[in-house]
Amino acid sequence: MKTIDELLDEGVAGKRVFVRADLNVPLDGTTITDDGRIRAVLPTVARLAEAGARVIVASHLGRPKGAPDPAFSLAPAAARLGELLGAGVAFATDTVGDSAKAVVGDLEDGQVAVLENLRFNAGETSKDDAERGAFADRLAELADLYVGDGFGAVHRKHASVYDLPARLPHAAGGLIATEVGVLKKLTEDVERPYAVVLGGAKVSDKLGVIDHLLEKADRILIGGGMAYTFLKAQGHEVGASLLQEDQIPAVQEYLKRAGERGVEFVLPVDVLVAPAFPDLKTKAPADPATVPVDAIPSDQMGLDSGPETNRLYASKLADATTVFWNGPMGVFEHPDYAEGTRAVAQALIDSDAFTVVGGGDSAAAVRILGFDENAFGHISTGGGASLEYLEGKTLPGLAALED
Ligand code: 3PG
Repeated sequence: MKTIDELLDEGVAGKRVFVRADLNVPLDGTTITDDGRIRAVLPTVARLAEAGARVIVASHLGRPKGAPDPAFSLAPAAARLGELLGAGVAFATDTVGDSAKAVVGDLEDGQVAVLENLRFNAGETSKDDAERGAFADRLAELADLYVGDGFGAVHRKHASVYDLPARLPHAAGGLIATEVGVLKKLTEDVERPYAVVLGGAKVSDKLGVIDHLLEKADRILIGGGMAYTFLKAQGHEVGASLLQEDQIPAVQEYLKRAGERGVEFVLPVDVLVAPAFPDLKTKAPADPATVPVDAIPSDQMGLDSGPETNRLYASKLADATTVFWNGPMGVFEHPDYAEGTRAVAQALIDSDAFTVVGGGDSAAAVRILGFDENAFGHISTGGGASLEYLEGKTLPGLAALED
C-alpha cells in the first residue's frame, strides 16, 4: 500500500488529488454535533494543500436514496473543514456535474474543494458493477491522483471507495494508515488480558465480531440494547426491552462456546428501566427505576446499565492490558441514561491498558459526554469498518489501495 508520504515525495504540486474522506458526521439540522471525523482527515488534506496539490475532498453523508436531498448536504461539513483548515474551501453543489467541473477547474495550487454528497448519485452505492464503474469513470475525470482516507467507509464496495482507486494512481492517507496500525494491534500479537466491550442496539450487527473475538479475547462484556437478547437467552424476562428473538439460538451458542474456550462473558446484573423510550428532543426527565436483571417488569424497558453493572464492568476492565470498546451501554443521548456509557469510558481512562474506542456511536459518545479524546489510546473513525476488520473480513476500500 503506497503511503501519502511516498506520494508527497514524488510531488503533488499542481496535481488534482481526489481525497475520499468520511465526513459522515452527526447533524442536528445543519449543526454538526461531533466533528471528529472532519478533524481526523484534516492532516491529510492540509499536507496535500501545503504541498501545492489541488485537493478535491469527497464523501458520503447519511443514506440518501441516490438522488439529491438537502437534508443530507455536505455543505455544513465543507464549512467546518474550511474553519479547521483556516482557509476558504470551495463547495460544488453536485458530484460530477457542471458545478463539480467548474469548482475543480477553478482550483489553484494549494486550494481545497469539497464535492456534494457522493450518494446523491445512484452509481456510488449501486450493486451493479457497470453502474458503479460508470460513476467512477466520471469521478476519475476530475482528478489526477487518488488518496483513500475515508476509513469509516472502507467496508463499503462503493464507487468512490472501491472502483475509483483502480482508475487513478493511488495511495492511503494518514488516517487509514493509523487506523489499520491500531487494528493490527488488536488482531496480531494482542497483549493480554484482552477485554472487549460491546454495546449498541442490535445483537445482529455484532454476531460476526463476537464469533471472531471468541477466538481472540479473554473477556467479553455486553451492554446496550443487545444485552437483552443475551439476558433472555439466559432465561431472564426482559419486559418491553429491545429483543431480537430470532438471534437467541446464536447467542446461546456463543455463550456455550465462550464457556468451552474459557472466555469470560459478562452480562449486566442490574438495569435502568422505564415504561417508554425517552424523548431525545426535549430530554424531559425520564425518572427511571433501577432493577436487578431478574426483576424487569413486563411493561418496562431497559435503557441503561445500572450502578452495580457499572461497578462490575469497571472491575473487569481494571486489569486488562488491551481493551476494545464498540457501542454505547444505554441511550446515552438522554442524560438519565448516559451513566452506563460514561462509566465504561471512565474505566477505559482509568486503566493502564491500550484502549481503542471503535467508531460510530461510541466515539461520538465519548466526545459528547465531554471526555478528553487524548485520554484514550485511539478513537477510531470507523464503526462498521473497524468491526468488519476485527471479523477478519477483506475490506474493499483497503484491498483497492493494496495494488
Ligand atoms: C459510518 O458511519 O459507519 C460510515 O460513514 C459508513 O456509513 P454507512 O454505514 O452509511 O455506509
